Amino acid sequence: MTEIIHLSQLPANLLPALTDLHLATMPTLLTELGKPFVLRYYQLAQADPTVIALVARSTASHPLPSTALPPSSGENDLLGYCLGSPCPSSLTARLRSPAAWFAKHILSATFSHPSVLLQLAQSTLFASKANTLQPGQIELTYIGVAPQARGYGLGTKLLTAFAESAQKTGYTSIALSVETDNLPALALYAKFGFRITQTFTEGRYHRHRMEYRLGT
Ligand SMILES: CC(C)(COP(=O)(O)OP(=O)(O)OC[C@H]1O[C@@H](n2cnc3c(N)ncnc32)[C@H](O)[C@@H]1OP(=O)(O)O)[C@@H](O)C(=O)NCCC(=O)NCCS
Repeated sequence: MTEIIHLSQLPANLLPALTDLHLATMPTLLTELGKPFVLRYYQLAQADPTVIALVARSTASHPLPSTALPPSSGENDLLGYCLGSPCPSSLTARLRSPAAWFAKHILSATFSHPSVLLQLAQSTLFASKANTLQPGQIELTYIGVAPQARGYGLGTKLLTAFAESAQKTGYTSIALSVETDNLPALALYAKFGFRITQTFTEGRYHRHRMEYRLGT
């Protein structure tokens, strides 16, 4: 069985497993910064009541193989996640403190991935106004499903739970940015009901801005 739980319900000892899943599925700047940053990001997200984050996990190994269920290798496997916030930049800004922790880990990230500094500079210099949230909007920042669990409807389940939570909290729409060549994600969003509101360039990335109106 697969269940969707809120990140706040995920035991702290499973945050490293969620971090590993994020690293394996989400090739973004946060991933480039490395495991300490991703783990800290989820710790901060877990403690932030404005963040809506959901985790899909397998609750038991399946007694009978079924093509309708994602494969699982054991109990409590984490199979997917999604996370959104009304102010994504404030969540990432909190990664800069405590200053000593940040200095130590950014130095080590720079040594292992020298391109990280350039990407950090580009993300600041080329940040597009297209990403600005409108009143009543929440940003869907990340969504990912483990490679072996894709194509079983988990991405849709996560989006459905995210939309329900966002609507209950009082948001009127969900916004997101997606690279124009990410065809599986674009297909998921389009099938769910997101529509493209803008197409823009941010540094070397070409992105669509998409919106899903809640309660329609
Ligand atoms: C995008 C992602 C979350 C989809 O998860 P998923 O669990 O496979 O999605 P679903 O099974 O719910 O698929 C829903 C619909 O999306 C479309 N879709 C999903 N994957 C697709 C693919 N590889 N090719 C074409 N269409 C696809 C299909 O229309 C599908 O509906 P259908 O199965 O009834 O035809 C997953 O591919 C992923 O984790 N990708 C890497 C992370 C990522 O790119 N995240 C988005 C960043 S913006």
